[in-house]
Amino acid sequence: MLAKELVALKADNVLPTDGGVAFSGSMLTMMQANLHSRIASRVLWKLVEKAYRSEDDIFRMARDLEWPELFAVENTIKVNVTAVKSPLRSPEFVGLKVKDGICDRFRLKSGARPSVDTREPDMRIHVFLTDRMATLYLDTSGEALFKRGYRQDAGEAPLRENLAAGILGLTGWQPEQVLYDPMCGSGTFLIEAAMIARKIAPGLRRSFAFQQFKMHSDEAWQKLRSEARASENNAMFAIHGSDVSSTALAHALENLETAGIADTVSLKQLNVLDAKPIADAGIWLCNPPYGVRLDEKEKLALLYPQWGDVLKQRFAGWHAYFLTGDLDLAKKIGLKASKRTVLFNGALECRLFEYELRAGSMRGG
Ligand SMILES: C[S@@+](CC[C@H](N)C(=O)[O-])C[C@H]1O[C@@H](n2cnc3c(N)ncnc32)[C@H](O)[C@@H]1O
Repeated sequence: MLAKELVALKADNVLPTDGGVAFSGSMLTMMQANLHSRIASRVLWKLVEKAYRSEDDIFRMARDLEWPELFAVENTIKVNVTAVKSPLRSPEFVGLKVKDGICDRFRLKSGARPSVDTREPDMRIHVFLTDRMATLYLDTSGEALFKRGYRQDAGEAPLRENLAAGILGLTGWQPEQVLYDPMCGSGTFLIEAAMIARKIAPGLRRSFAFQQFKMHSDEAWQKLRSEARASENNAMFAIHGSDVSSTALAHALENLETAGIADTVSLKQLNVLDAKPIADAGIWLCNPPYGVRLDEKEKLALLYPQWGDVLKQRFAGWHAYFLTGDLDLAKKIGLKASKRTVLFNGALECRLFEYELRAGSMRGG
């Protein structure tokens, strides 16, 4: 899904890799990806990739880069290290070596060095180590891209915005179709859908690390933002949400209002067992609750078959999708899934189940 998005943004050499998608392009492409990608978590700029054997090799890689050409000595920094099968014992020590390399390079240039800020750094430097290769990246995004700037209150177990947007893509939902989330919680699916439908760029309400890069052109950036605003629309769409909890609905409404799209989504307080179809066909998409405690699990085990019955008896003609991390509960829906997609919600392995609801569809496992 992300590769498709990057191709549409005119990125070059788009290539899905483990845990990400590589692409090449100009600074303009980088800004476009940050502004428009609904699925990426971060846009990282690869600075150097080399074989290594020791911490000192990685120190030299960092020291040999012209950091003072990238950002100012006043910018705070943070180094993140991710290692997969690396022979080096301590990622923390590698992080210190990279920080030393960056500071040495600045000191050589100006006598001063940047400070470290582990909470809200201006510049994040990512180091990826495999068994042989070390790669250094400068983070162009800053805060992760799923932080769009509209979430006021998280509510109960909210989905990450970029996961919700990716799932909407996987369902094949198109803005002309009816979308219904009957357990909408803080409204993540609804908000992402409304932003897609209204063509609202996800990055318009936030700032990015690249705005502090030395080569940053604010003129070019403001032009991209104006172009993004100009392509928004005010059309009406059939995006509906409900939830049994009034607190959840209050969170959803607050988030919709902050995102400026409260008029695009209809919300209603309703138990899913009372849900009725708004149209003959549409996409039902939700992320039902999952139990952590045993008594919660037992209660939910009774509810899942009832949700399945609602779908079967009232929603013939619809496509239904559930995202859940609890496979035992999912089985209790009692409908035969036409598709299962493995997805990760943070570290939690989940499945997106798809059900094609035909009139008289058979019950099954
Ligand atoms: C895991 S949360 C959904 C989170 C949501 N996807 C988000 O991003 O914020 C599950 C939601 O199901 C709602 N819920 C639980 N039982 C329900 C029922 N019987 N009918 C409708 N909603 C229900 C809860 O109030 C909760 O908001």
